[in-house]
Amino acid sequence: MLKQWIDEATYTVVFTGAGMSTESGLPDFRSANEGLWNNLDPSEIASTDALNRNVHAFTEFYRQRVLGVKTYEPHKGHYILADWEKQGKIKSIITQNVDGFHQAAGSKQVAELHGTLQTLHCQSCKKQYSSEAYIDKEYHCLCGGILRPSIVLFGEALPQDAFQKAYKEAQACDLIIVLGSSLSVTPANQFPLIAKGNGAKLVIINREETSLDFYADLIINKRNIGDILKELDS
Ligand code: APR
Repeated sequence: MLKQWIDEATYTVVFTGAGMSTESGLPDFRSANEGLWNNLDPSEIASTDALNRNVHAFTEFYRQRVLGVKTYEPHKGHYILADWEKQGKIKSIITQNVDGFHQAAGSKQVAELHGTLQTLHCQSCKKQYSSEAYIDKEYHCLCGGILRPSIVLFGEALPQDAFQKAYKEAQACDLIIVLGSSLSVTPANQFPLIAKGNGAKLVIINREETSLDFYADLIINKRNIGDILKELDS
């Protein structure tokens, strides 16, 4: 059925979360067993408050995540999505992920709602740095300010350009496919609902149940995204 929906749709958008990158080796946040937030309180580590109050724990945590995106790489599923964009099967990807794997696999139309771990910027003067600086344990800007990843921390606003692009895509699509998100974080989780509200079919492919299953036209649980994308691509 999903293969038919994709073939029949005129404007398909994909919405991805951390579950899109677990098969690359990166942990997600809320999976029952290995989610990052099972052992850490995000407000204690992934917030501007943590950056100001708990800077050593903050930089250590994010240095590990930067090492992760430099060590691991996109898996077959990322490359299939990039291929589908080239074929016109999908028009864009709205992602909550900060690993840059969609672009690394060749996807061009990507809205990064939560920013990226590929760059850092100074919390004081905003000067941009490569995230290599964290690998080299360089945590300060030439101005003396602290360097932080260019991701959205809890309590911060989403980047306007990504937000606007995601809004436009959610309004334009007639099919939106969620891959690997618990859909528990606002405002990111509003985009599948905006699409649904505009008459699009909502498909949720996620190992576990999500907060928006009630609204889905099709739900696929307990299966790996990589396997499903390979089947759809055959
Ligand atoms: N195949 C299918 N589903 C998977 C796979 C997989 N290989 N791996 C994990 N999942 C599912 C998990 O069951 C989980 O429900 O992906 C979902 C990932 O959900 P979260 O860990 O909550 O990640 P996400 O929804 O992206 O989190 C949103 O929260 O902490 C913030 O900024 C962070 O962008 C993140 C946001």
